[in-house]
Amino acid sequence: MMPKKILVLGGYGNFGERICSALAQDECELYIAGRSHDKAQQLAQKLGARACVLDHQAPDFLAQLQHIKPDILIHTSGPFQGQNYHIAAACIKVGCHYIDIADGREYVRDITQLNAAAQQAKVLVVSGASSLPALSSAVVDQYLAHFLRLDSIEHGISSGAKPPGMATMEGVMSYVGKAFLRWQNQSWQTVYGWQDVLSHRYDAPVGLRFLSNCDVPDLDLFPARYPSVHSVQFRAGVGFASTSLATWSFSWLVRLRVLKSLVPYAASLHKMATWIEPLGSEWSAMHVTLTGLNLKQQPHLITWQLLAGSNHGPNIPCFPAIALARKLLNGQIQQTGAMPCMGLLTVDEILTPIPNLNLRWNLQ
Ligand SMILES: NC(=O)c1ccc[n+]([C@@H]2O[C@H](COP(=O)([O-])OP(=O)(O)OC[C@H]3O[C@@H](n4cnc5c(N)ncnc54)[C@H](OP(=O)(O)O)[C@@H]3O)[C@@H](O)[C@H]2O)c1
Repeated sequence: MMPKKILVLGGYGNFGERICSALAQDECELYIAGRSHDKAQQLAQKLGARACVLDHQAPDFLAQLQHIKPDILIHTSGPFQGQNYHIAAACIKVGCHYIDIADGREYVRDITQLNAAAQQAKVLVVSGASSLPALSSAVVDQYLAHFLRLDSIEHGISSGAKPPGMATMEGVMSYVGKAFLRWQNQSWQTVYGWQDVLSHRYDAPVGLRFLSNCDVPDLDLFPARYPSVHSVQFRAGVGFASTSLATWSFSWLVRLRVLKSLVPYAASLHKMATWIEPLGSEWSAMHVTLTGLNLKQQPHLITWQLLAGSNHGPNIPCFPAIALARKLLNGQIQQTGAMPCMGLLTVDEILTPIPNLNLRWNLQ
């Protein structure tokens, strides 16, 4: 039988490279795609994969995809905020499964509009196969049976000093200082990106980290998936307290309309983050706190945490896409249709695709 073809769009990017390095170990024909021939070729040579120059905005994108005819396409070329579904729609036309690592709130939520077309083409179209909402919802699902009634979900991610790629940076900058709605005390309330700074104490060696509001898919998906919750909050931050607080200050410039957006400054901020990286922490962390009533109708609080050392944290957003691609490769998923990445993977399936990483997870 011919090995299955997997094409990773943005395959030599920050997260794409990690996804490709993992999938290069599997029984598949791997295509590393992006707009730069040299970057694709360099990584393809290292991994024993195929390089592919592909611009998803080019008029002949669909024709090129039809020519390669992948079995699975993994889309990492964000930012996803404001993108339409032309890549997923092209996959449906070509008859290939589609997975992305999107963090755009509307993008992940509204992927279901492709459901009928994906079912008709007998393909799986999955959005948000990343930390949010794939891992976050898998954690909530795992502990749901501990609760007679789940009242609130409060979760957060604090990265280490290693900066993400430009697409992630631009995605985050798009909502710094901007108003968005959050489900709080049983009503939709307006909050502002990168404001309402809180601290969360993770186990040593991470310790205290500052976290601020982020506009992410979970804010819409969780109140719908867990209808008893009266509040869903998500915050993120970086290892440097000074960077978190500086971004908080910039958020006021946008909120007070002194600046329209921080997106034009993303490249400069990315450069600065790269310069200061050696001074910062190699540890990143994630937590999910659930409150409600336990089976004895007593107030109950659980905090799950994940700590990643040795700069291994940036692998985590890649895990769900890798795990899902492997399930499809191995014929372990028969489901078709278009959906956010929830209920398709367990916590254990998500956290184990790359062995020997400095990761630990437990209840705090
Ligand atoms: N859901 C979550 O929890 C979560 C967590 C973290 C990150 N993310 C998302 O992950 C995405 C990727 O982040 P990253 O840090 O890996 O960004 P990155 O390093 O900038 O990678 C983006 C890749 O896309 C490629 N690309 C850009 N435009 C393209 C086009 N028109 N056609 C083909 N390829 C194109 C880029 O290469 P060329 O420019 O050379 O083409 C690059 O390889 C971000 O959008 C972020 O939002 C999600």
